[in-house]
Amino acid sequence: MPHDQHPAQAEAVEAPALPAPEPDGTPTGVWSTGTGRGADGALRVAGLDVRDLAREHGTPAYVLDEADLRARARAYATAFAEAFAPEAGLAGADVYYAGKAFLSVAVARWVHEEGLRVDTATGGELAVALRAGVPGAGIGLHGNNKSDAELVTALEHGVGRIVVDSLPEIDRVAAVAERLGVVAPVMVRVTTGVHAGGHQFIATAHEDQKFGLSLTSGAARKAVDEILARPGLDLIGLHSHIGSQILDLAGFAVAARAVLGLRAEVAAQTGHLMPEVDLGGGYGIAYTGHEGPAPTPAQIATTLADVVRRTCAELGTPVPRISVEPGRSIVGPSTLTLYTVGTVKEVALDDGGRRTYVSVDGGMSDNIRPALYEAEYSAALASRGSAAEPVRARVVGKHCESGDIVVHGVALPGDVRDGDLLAVPATGAYGRSMASNYNLVPRPPVLAVRDGAARVLVRRETIEDLLALDEG
Ligand code: LLP
Repeated sequence: MPHDQHPAQAEAVEAPALPAPEPDGTPTGVWSTGTGRGADGALRVAGLDVRDLAREHGTPAYVLDEADLRARARAYATAFAEAFAPEAGLAGADVYYAGKAFLSVAVARWVHEEGLRVDTATGGELAVALRAGVPGAGIGLHGNNKSDAELVTALEHGVGRIVVDSLPEIDRVAAVAERLGVVAPVMVRVTTGVHAGGHQFIATAHEDQKFGLSLTSGAARKAVDEILARPGLDLIGLHSHIGSQILDLAGFAVAARAVLGLRAEVAAQTGHLMPEVDLGGGYGIAYTGHEGPAPTPAQIATTLADVVRRTCAELGTPVPRISVEPGRSIVGPSTLTLYTVGTVKEVALDDGGRRTYVSVDGGMSDNIRPALYEAEYSAALASRGSAAEPVRARVVGKHCESGDIVVHGVALPGDVRDGDLLAVPATGAYGRSMASNYNLVPRPPVLAVRDGAARVLVRRETIEDLLALDEG
């Protein structure tokens, strides 16, 4: 295979060329709630014309609709508070925003203001959450290979939980806790064997992967016993995360039953009833509008509340406090990426048809997901309306790889041309957070828009930023 050939291309998979659902208020979930078209056909977000955003801030740029993100965070907080209320026979719930999807100081502050806690997985994410003023007690720390420095920072700031991912980590956390003279609140990450999610690299709870401690092999139980034997560790609960971009809630129920079972077994055999259970994140969203409905926070909360209530009744154990860790479903739909179109090229296809390649000024450096997971996206002409006959288009980036694809297949107006703005919706999760400097392309800014005003959350990287790291 030539070095620049994407493996998926060998199979010449034909993606359907469907137009983006129009941002006209139809609740497809693909566009943020503040996105629509102005009278002249140009896209507007939160009262701002994207042409003005492009003029002032350049492209590519991630445009984040603050009200949309806040509303999704608030919907989670409300739905879980209601579904897990004591009046509903449950013991309350906490929602942790998974910062890996996208974290900046402002976003951490907003989700905290909307009643969420913050889930971090590295020292970097932890530092941003702390800088935002999120109290340590409202922060969780994950990671399959946490460094001592990360553990020290977490325990010095009194994080609410450290999620233990391996047996050797138990000794490490205990040693750091002892050194600092604190008791570390820990959870055990349990792999339940439930395999869910769109792509193998995103699925995390089957056996042959690096995360967590297996339930079936007895490793999870061993971790529990080892933690209980250490006075410097406080075992507050069990944790399960089964994957990401999951649209069907059935897998969460199976995993919940498995961890609740282990909790009951531990209580019966050791007398230690863990007060909490975390059921992870992973709720899917709409990227193209054609993937079927995404679960709402209320549907997720009531489904989980139901299974927790029933399972604990069957097991005869008191209900735990529940937590979840959604990332993508809070930030993903809030953001679109704004690109400027450069080269437009038409190619002949083997089937006799034609495809229009629309090159934009970004690509796999600002959205690696199509290349990494064959993720599907949509796109729409943003700087104007057009009544031109649609053509079968593929949106590609400016990088030196044929796998540098932004949108595999989408119907775009046939008059799309150099200088047009193109918007790709639902890029808020794992877009900027997985962005790279491939081909030494500076990473785009994140612009928050609200009530007709834009604010830079993360500024555009410059060539000078890149050169500043190069010691020459
Ligand atoms: N909690 C844990 C322990 C996780 O590992 C993850 C995601 C989440 C919560 C949040 O999941 P979410 O609600 O965002 O699906 N880069 C991939 C996704 C990797 C997810 C890793 N873990 C992608 O772009 O699809």
